[in-house]
Amino acid sequence: MPKPIFVLNGPNLNLVGVREPSIYGAETLADIGRRTEARAQAMGLAVDFRQSNSEGELVTWIQEAREQACGIILNAGAYTHTSVAILDALNAAEKPVIELHLSNVFRRESFRHHSYVSPAAQGVICGFGPKGYELAVDAMADLLNRKPAGKAGKT
Ligand code: DQA
Repeated sequence: MPKPIFVLNGPNLNLVGVREPSIYGAETLADIGRRTEARAQAMGLAVDFRQSNSEGELVTWIQEAREQACGIILNAGAYTHTSVAILDALNAAEKPVIELHLSNVFRRESFRHHSYVSPAAQGVICGFGPKGYELAVDAMADLLNRKPAGKAGKT
């Protein structure tokens, strides 16, 4: 049984579809989860799609990913801009990481321009709304295929 990609969503992303729709769009997180799963299935991959408002729970899930996941797609929400704990967990996970945001954080307030996730990420996708989740699955599929067998590439 191949390990899933962990697709982890941080605080307030449970409110997507309701929250600031001019920024985050009208699709709910459940819609986005279905779209992500369908894309993964088409690529022969599985996803484990989760959301938490708690920084500690996100850290625990990233730790879990070390053993249970083949890679991590992370929309850490506002913790992106504040959490050294999430950065440390990502570095410890030794898995490919893709940082994801619905909005283009670089067109927004300057406090959103800094990310603690980026130093641990292979790449960043932002500004494409829900479509970004599908793009992230494609990018992760590519990363996993390109990896030579060995420590970092093991699934
Ligand atoms: C976000 C961008 C963050 O700056 C913000 O705090 C979020 C959502 C996005 O998906 O665009 O909660 O990660």
